[in-house]
Amino acid sequence: MALPNHGANAHHVYERLGIEMPETVIDYSENVNPLGAPTFVNEKWSTYAQLITKYPNPQGEPFLSAAAKYHGISVENTVVGNGAAEIFASLAKRYENKRAVLIHPTFSEYEATLAPYNVYIKEIIATGKVPLDEVLDEVEFAEVIYICRPNNPTGYLIPLEEIIQIAKYAMRYKCEVILDEAFLDFIDEKESFIPYLKEFPNVIVVRSMTKMYAIPGIRLGYALANKSVVNDIRSRMPHWNSNAIATTIGAECLLEEDYRTRAIAFAKEMREQMTEFLVKWNCIVLPSATNFLCFQLPDSSRSKEFFVSLLVKGCVLRHTENFKGLDGKWFRVGMKEISQMEHLQKEMTAWFVENLSS
Ligand SMILES: Cc1ncc(COP(=O)(O)O)c(C=O)c1O
Repeated sequence: MALPNHGANAHHVYERLGIEMPETVIDYSENVNPLGAPTFVNEKWSTYAQLITKYPNPQGEPFLSAAAKYHGISVENTVVGNGAAEIFASLAKRYENKRAVLIHPTFSEYEATLAPYNVYIKEIIATGKVPLDEVLDEVEFAEVIYICRPNNPTGYLIPLEEIIQIAKYAMRYKCEVILDEAFLDFIDEKESFIPYLKEFPNVIVVRSMTKMYAIPGIRLGYALANKSVVNDIRSRMPHWNSNAIATTIGAECLLEEDYRTRAIAFAKEMREQMTEFLVKWNCIVLPSATNFLCFQLPDSSRSKEFFVSLLVKGCVLRHTENFKGLDGKWFRVGMKEISQMEHLQKEMTAWFVENLSS
């Protein structure tokens, strides 16, 4: 039986598999910052609540200016979305009846948002290093290429030099590059493509506030691009698309330098510890640059059994049956608090001892 798709919806997977949900369930398939939203969010919540009696700013202020300032870019080159997801939804129509390149395995929303627009999709499969020559060959014939950097679900970070090379080549062939930097906050702004946007009007950078700041419930994302693309994205968005609480909290989140530094260090520490643990048990681990990682069991034919037995113990991993190129042999695990990572390792150890030791 195929495993159900369950991005951030643990209930669904228990229900579909007919497994009784234990009292305590930890959802390692989620990959927002385990440190939780910055403390000011709770402290000032009653102030934010007062914002609901008025319509929000239609352009997403105060967040629009805060995001532009944070990246040293003009507000004219910035557009605010109800999550990065809304930006992708708006962008897709640009490519109606055209040709797009997707590098799988990757975030499913690129394909999902293109689906209604009769877009011909050329798929490239790369679980690790991206085959640059193949990408350049395809870019020549496409109107857009989507690149997730770092990639979800693998955590792979295409080197900046390679992205520049792709952007240059794409510009020559009038191909746009949609660069999804939703998880780049967990690395370093020095790794971002944003400073190169002036040189590359064919590149659109999409960012999300929901991962680093652990605020997926209030929806906030943005795109940075040339003015005409920004206007085009905005033209397909509803008026008042972003709410006042999200844009006010988002603007303040961008001032949280210490919080970001702590989150980056924590994600790195957890990912290194988890990698060490998995390697000790002869699992294959893909090198990740962000706050989740992908691993495979030494015997991948036992993946389903392993996944289900962890569900029974209340540990929900992200299976990869619906990710092209990973085909269920891999698992994605989001980094959580120390005690939760220890709990996962304890449950996994129990399974490994019982099933992997000869
Ligand atoms: C790679 C990637 N980009 C974008 C998004 C969407 O982010 P948002 O919550 O801002 O809509 C996600 C959400 O899972 C994601 O994994």
